[in-house]
Amino acid sequence: MLRVENLVAGYGKVQVLHGLSMQVAEGQLVTLIGSNGAGKTTTLRALSGMIRPESGRITLHGADIAGLPSHAITRRGLAHSPEGRRVFSTLSVADNLVMGAFPRLTGSRPRGDVAADLDRMFALFPRLAERRAQLAGTLSGGEQQMLAMARALMLNPDVLLLDEPSMGLSPRLVSEVFATIARLRESRVTMLLVEQFAAAALDVADFGYVMENGRLSASGPAAALRDDPAVRAAYLGTAH
Ligand SMILES: Nc1ncnc2c1ncn2[C@@H]1O[C@H](COP(=O)(O)OP(=O)(O)OP(=O)(O)O)[C@@H](O)[C@H]1O
Ligand SMILES: [Mg+2]
Repeated sequence: MLRVENLVAGYGKVQVLHGLSMQVAEGQLVTLIGSNGAGKTTTLRALSGMIRPESGRITLHGADIAGLPSHAITRRGLAHSPEGRRVFSTLSVADNLVMGAFPRLTGSRPRGDVAADLDRMFALFPRLAERRAQLAGTLSGGEQQMLAMARALMLNPDVLLLDEPSMGLSPRLVSEVFATIARLRESRVTMLLVEQFAAAALDVADFGYVMENGRLSASGPAAALRDDPAVRAAYLGTAH
């Protein structure tokens, strides 16, 4: 589905990713974990076209998308729910969600039934349903985070990139977000999940990659990584 080969990317002269290779198979939930500043967000930005890769290949459905502008990548079915709460604060919750479906309305993606998908999002995120007419800027931080995720899902994406969906949430909301991710996985949404809660991410994922200083230091089935002593000591906060 999504394949990355020797990706080199960064900001101006600062190279952050030094030849990254990874893949996300159809219907899989893959997680990318690593310390602060390792390059996880940069990876997602390069995949979705928010930054232009220096070199390397990124293929979606076998077609090279590296270097395409982000709107063109979105139209090919890759949605990015970015770090932080990027919502249109002066629009209502419902209008934010409809904006997420916009690339489908311009003819380049199957249009489908946007109204039905809106109902599906409200069923998946009941908190958003209760607040559908509220301005997004007045939602709590956690609610905005959910809205950003739901908006990305409104593309009906072939691949969904999630950057720290649990960031800044209360423990109860963190569990809610992970339950939602597990439900999406059951419905076979293909996802690449970046998470600070590495243990929880490995619990819910099929496969994992560990990143250190812009390079992969480990990869494997999520259950194997969770039991790997080196990964446990460095990222899961337990040596045993
Ligand atoms: N816009 C930018 N300009 C210059 N350097 C940047 C920019 N954004 C990130 N960096 C640098 O790139 C490196 C990787 O950052 P990145 O945001 O990808 O890390 P991360 O793995 O997502 O970390 P975190 O877990 O803290 O979110 C860091 O050293 C960071 O300072
Ligand atoms: Mg980050």
